[in-house]
Amino acid sequence: MPITRTTTALGPRPTLSAGLDRFRDDVLHGLSAARKAIPCKYLYDDRGSRLFDRICELDEYYLTRTELAILSRRAGEMAEAIGPDCELVELGSGSAVKTRLLLEQLHEPRAYIPVDISPDPLHRSAAELGAMFPALEIIPVCDDFTGAFDLPESGTPPASRRVVYFPGSTIGNFQPLAALRLLTSIARLVGPGGGLLIGFDLDKDESIVRPAYNDRLGISAAFNLNLLARINRELGADFDLGAFEHRASYLRRQERVELGLVSRIDQVVGVAGREFRFAPGELIHTEDSYKYTREHFARLTARAGFALEAEWTDEREYFCVQLLTVE
Ligand code: AVJ
Repeated sequence: MPITRTTTALGPRPTLSAGLDRFRDDVLHGLSAARKAIPCKYLYDDRGSRLFDRICELDEYYLTRTELAILSRRAGEMAEAIGPDCELVELGSGSAVKTRLLLEQLHEPRAYIPVDISPDPLHRSAAELGAMFPALEIIPVCDDFTGAFDLPESGTPPASRRVVYFPGSTIGNFQPLAALRLLTSIARLVGPGGGLLIGFDLDKDESIVRPAYNDRLGISAAFNLNLLARINRELGADFDLGAFEHRASYLRRQERVELGLVSRIDQVVGVAGREFRFAPGELIHTEDSYKYTREHFARLTARAGFALEAEWTDEREYFCVQLLTVE
């Protein structure tokens, strides 16, 4: 999955219908597999992104709150370690709440390039940040960073350092091999001397992790089930949302939370002109959320060509932010 740099402005974006074809192919392919699965990026349509923002505010969801606390205390140190005149590329920027804290501290950043699959949050947050940092060149890129995508060339001479910002434990969504591939392509994108500021969730007791994905208000369930509503709406399917149940299990030995939707009954569902059978208790896998030990994360990032430059965590060691450098 090469992330390349173009010498011209952005090429034509995939059309809406090409995006829809891709979505349909991925869903049909995923539902045809022996173990049904749908790529988690499809959870983040406009409604899904809004539900995810509500998850981030839940009492049980410690990730966002902890990462924000680390940032508000240590963003100055992070900016110091990153150095002046950087070009900041953010992958999966969403509503970019954390980015503001970082941008406030960065020393004369050259450009900010947010990349996100969801156009509304991308353009909303780009406009907000543009108003807050009028001197900063902001170039939003609406694209799927898990595939090949192009980055625009900023109009100015090369920045002293290109740094990818990848917060929010988004890396946790990737299975080990895909994580290694993505990190390797990030290393190539930033080049020797370039940086990666990355936030990831640490392995911890089930009593803390489980509730974060099984909250009392049912927002996690609504977020997960929204995938079926989206498929119904965009692909012409007849999923009965009441016939599926949200499931999130912490498989601690595998260092991951597995999210899925479980069929409550024996049923057949029509999707884009095809029919799929679901046995009672059968799972559609929708997302993974990996929780790393420091050792495993060190091994993963070293294999991708990164060295640890600095690290920040909270007192309880729930969450970790690292600045990594390509050697
Ligand atoms: C966006 C991947 C960080 O894994 O905690 C939250 C996604 N899914 N609740 C996570 C998520 C259900 C979230 N990440």
